Amino acid sequence: MQYILGLDLGTTGNRAILFDAEGAIAGQAYKELRQYYPQPGYLEHDPEEIWQDTYTCIQQILKHTGISANAIAAIGLSVQRETCLLWDKTTGKPLHKAIVWQDRRTASMCRQLQAKGQAKTIQERTGLIVDAYFSATKFAWLLDWVRDKNININLDNILAGTIDTWILWKLTGGKVHATDHSNASRTMLMNLAQGNWDSQLLDLFQIPDRIMPQIQPSLGMFGETDPQLLGEAIPIAAVFGDQQAALFAHGCDRPGMVKCTYGTGCFLIAHTGEELTRSHHQLLSTVAWTQVLANGRTATSYALEAAMFTTGACIQWLRDGLKLIDSAAETEHLARQVTDNNGVYFVPALSGLGAPRWDMSARGAFLGITGGVQREHMVRAVLEAIAYQVKEAIEAMNRDSSKAIEVLKVDGGACQNDFLMQFQADALGIPIERPVVLEATAQGAAFGAGLAIGYWTDYQKLCRSRKIDRIFEPGTGAIQAQENFHTWLKAVNRAQHWVD
Ligand code: G3P
Repeated sequence: MQYILGLDLGTTGNRAILFDAEGAIAGQAYKELRQYYPQPGYLEHDPEEIWQDTYTCIQQILKHTGISANAIAAIGLSVQRETCLLWDKTTGKPLHKAIVWQDRRTASMCRQLQAKGQAKTIQERTGLIVDAYFSATKFAWLLDWVRDKNININLDNILAGTIDTWILWKLTGGKVHATDHSNASRTMLMNLAQGNWDSQLLDLFQIPDRIMPQIQPSLGMFGETDPQLLGEAIPIAAVFGDQQAALFAHGCDRPGMVKCTYGTGCFLIAHTGEELTRSHHQLLSTVAWTQVLANGRTATSYALEAAMFTTGACIQWLRDGLKLIDSAAETEHLARQVTDNNGVYFVPALSGLGAPRWDMSARGAFLGITGGVQREHMVRAVLEAIAYQVKEAIEAMNRDSSKAIEVLKVDGGACQNDFLMQFQADALGIPIERPVVLEATAQGAAFGAGLAIGYWTDYQKLCRSRKIDRIFEPGTGAIQAQENFHTWLKAVNRAQHWVD
């Protein structure tokens, strides 16, 4: 019996899942990842920890299932996007911690670009809105840091990459320095129409192209694991940005098909076909995935995306920052203890606001607090805010399309929360379709790798094998939820333009 390993290296934690030929889960392991907040608005990850945790998860699966490494036919890799780092080609050591996608340290650099009138050109070339979210300004910051600190390294010896590139490099024992189009499309350095590094943008950000990884099709051979790691050379046959991997798992491969992942952030993505589609409502144009067809042509699937920065991160903050809850699961119980939010609204702008507002200077806020407000109301307000930000994003997406979204396919950890899912259906007024396996990201990465090596041959059949757990229909709370949305919008307006 052979298996496919899907890796989902996310912001909050790293996960490995082994899938059998039926697409069922044969084993899994997870490790929560440490978050470093060196200053307000900064967020870093330790690349060595990401690698060690990835390696440990793979070893744990093999140990717990008793499956040997030679039974793994291929690995599919999916990662948190935009987070990036530099490392020394010779020592293999990172030069600095990775700067995470949520990190706002380059906000002023972005404002300068906007002030210089660069935003339009950048958007035309990359499909992205100038924001500290993307990797380009983070790479520029890291390179400035290397130059300023006079780190004893020849610039020719530096390698740059997003997390997929780093882990690929580690898995292959330093042999492969590559990325795929879906991850590259999030750096703000890839020309979206051409699928290669944009020399004009590399010049603008002063990033030498020799330090950048090679961009390859998402589904295809990236290399083999170093036999010293697992005792076997296992092919790495797919690489995706995590959100695109989830889109792939949901079977959203045609225009109009949409999914929303509730992870650290919320990511609403609509497949738009092989045509590069541009948004008129502040959404991102991005690569869904690329693959080489039988005739040798590289086919690019595009997507429109609304990226919302803090979802699971808000719940994590309730737990670790405010200590209002002991576990994420407790939020559901607490929210149900009260009949409404008692006038409290939360603005989930812990890392500024993404789509459709794109305000790097917004910050999180609770509004409407009066003496009778209890912890249950505040927890409920946070869950409601998660649903409301998705509603705002869906409205933007509907305005961009000739056909409104009729059903929302969801995945990600926060979808376990029945209160949140019901409130989401109420707020949107459309059904929410929740699958049994919420780990669509690892599933998508594994599906991609298995299809690329011919382990599976029928993509549609594979996607259909995913079972639906529950459909949440809009219910009796819909009128109130939709009415309150307007107050939430007012709260968000108040929290905008908060810091310089
Ligand atoms: O763009 C950031 C995104 O890829 C992070 O995903 O799953 O870590 O919330 P996640």
